[in-house]
Amino acid sequence: MRLNKIIALAALALVSAAASAQTVKIGFITSYSGLNGNLGPYMERAVRLYLKQHAKELGGVKVELLTRDDTGPNPDKARQLAQELVVRDKVDLLAGVIFTPNAMAMAPIATEAKVPFVIMNAGTAVITTRSPYMVRTSFTLWQSSYPLGQWASKKFKTAYSLVSDFGPGHDSEEGFTKGFEEGGGKVLAKVRVPLQNPDWAAYMQRVKDAKPDALMVFIPAGKTATAVMKNFSDLGLAQAGIKLIGPGDITTDEELPNMGDVALGVLTVHHYSAAATRPANKAFVEAWKKEYGKDETPNFVAVGAYDGAALIVEAIKQLKGKLDPDKTMAIFKQWKNPNSPRGPISIDPETRDIIQPEYLREVKRVGGQLANVEIETLGTAVKDPWKELQKKK
Ligand code: PHB
Repeated sequence: MRLNKIIALAALALVSAAASAQTVKIGFITSYSGLNGNLGPYMERAVRLYLKQHAKELGGVKVELLTRDDTGPNPDKARQLAQELVVRDKVDLLAGVIFTPNAMAMAPIATEAKVPFVIMNAGTAVITTRSPYMVRTSFTLWQSSYPLGQWASKKFKTAYSLVSDFGPGHDSEEGFTKGFEEGGGKVLAKVRVPLQNPDWAAYMQRVKDAKPDALMVFIPAGKTATAVMKNFSDLGLAQAGIKLIGPGDITTDEELPNMGDVALGVLTVHHYSAAATRPANKAFVEAWKKEYGKDETPNFVAVGAYDGAALIVEAIKQLKGKLDPDKTMAIFKQWKNPNSPRGPISIDPETRDIIQPEYLREVKRVGGQLANVEIETLGTAVKDPWKELQKKK
């Protein structure tokens, strides 16, 4: 063959390889600003870390992450962004989302456009019933708060419930109350506080006056968790003999250094702690530090996104990058990982929610730093209790 013919053939081969190289577009909506705007980057970093670690498994398929800022709990903005990503950018998948109202607003878009939607945080139980194209790799508040109530009923006679007044707060209150009262405890009061800027000092004073054995708090993780700790401490609730408990959102790993010693001894139930000593978690934390800096630590938002990326990579592998929505959902529903950083997990094919372990943790000092130390496994394969209860109705 003449040289210029060889060159022409080689060029043609390159062009056709580029044309057939599949690209999967993910419309990634999360919070980079507004309330808890610090959480979005945990989600994005986790997805990028997983994709980097597993790049070879993609078989040449390119994954494009189209990141968008929903600016916090802002359903109108989330709906608009999802609409644009689906209609204009023609994404194959939607993913991300810290806040429940945003996930709820996006549900009809996933259904109408048949775009699979991987929820990596938002934790109100009902969300996944709103679209058959949703799957959730994070948690539900019932998963942590119901076992928390059951456990607390063996330790305390009375409790006071204080939650943010939106979906996950209501679930946390209801799940905790059910578990606590089934075990013979009495909930003295159920108070719901505004999502943004509640007057914590006033609420904590009311708790102190009610003299419960335990105060159960849910707030969306992030800076609010530190505000709760500070006011609990400043108003002397610990000295008054009140024990602070809650789902793990109130001692989210990345805020522990900002909380200081007041967090010591706080007991929470959750599916993930950066301090967990499982080999898969140690490897995850080490990879995170290597990628993002030695002082950086992943949190539960990161693990929800990391495992969400694993689910997506599995579908890309099996479908060779051609993500037919129904085939993708079928793969998601069968997905399991015996070795997630949080322990063995799987997707419940019936509900498209995650089945996972729940741990009782206590904030302790480990190597000079505060850590959520897992002290007991309360359940190894916990399904969303709210959906289990609905089935019995
Ligand atoms: C939610 O909006 O579903 C949400 C937000 C923050 C959390 C947990 C749940 O820490």
